[in-house]
Amino acid sequence: MEIDIKSLEPKQIYKLMTSIIVPRPIAWISTVSRDGIYNLAPFSYFAGISSDPPLLLVSIGSKSPGVKKDTWKNIEETGEFVVNMVTEDVLEKMNQTSLPYESEVDEFREAGLTPIPSSVVKPPRVKESPVNIECRRFQIIEIGRMGLILGEILKVHVRDDILNDKGYVDTTKLKIIGRLGGANYCLISGENTFELRRPDKE
Ligand SMILES: Cc1cc2nc3c(=O)[nH]c(=O)nc-3n(C[C@H](O)[C@H](O)[C@H](O)COP(=O)(O)O)c2cc1C
Repeated sequence: MEIDIKSLEPKQIYKLMTSIIVPRPIAWISTVSRDGIYNLAPFSYFAGISSDPPLLLVSIGSKSPGVKKDTWKNIEETGEFVVNMVTEDVLEKMNQTSLPYESEVDEFREAGLTPIPSSVVKPPRVKESPVNIECRRFQIIEIGRMGLILGEILKVHVRDDILNDKGYVDTTKLKIIGRLGGANYCLISGENTFELRRPDKE
């Protein structure tokens, strides 16, 4: 079957793309509004895109035409955010923070999560998440109703027991969640990960 993208509505393209480009990690983003209100929401159009400079990318939509989601608005106005990684333990709470709460609502409080101070940015980290990435806005590229947020990574917090002596985080210990299409997710765990070394030249 060959699908001509031009023949599809945006909703159909979304379904196709999000069930083909899998699994996607979830950036659980904490921000603070100009008025000091905490905000937390998940985004799976998310990728690490460069190590030098250290950049990540998140694609955030609009609530309605011309009305940016709170996370986008806060990053635009304050220039700072934290990406918290989502593990099995906080899956339900992550889901709860995706509800379209009013801007005045603090999702940390709604979901019963603990905000803890970051080192160099104002937005707090999620204590219940084992990896927090403090970011500064590098660039926002606005395309139609989407904001492509490029974040420069300033600080990374990892739980002590998950960083190994080679500098890698032991993903299998983390139980990180991956997003698939629709309401489907996968679990990155020891049982379903494996090693594949790059071939030698000779
Ligand atoms: C797992 C998951 C992934 C999501 N990924 C995205 C995404 O990549 N981009 C987006 O605009 N919304 C995404 N959403 C929806 C937002 O989380 C939702 O619109 C949220 O209310 C935005 O909150 P805010 O207005 O506080 O920023 C996702 C929701 C879930 C549950």
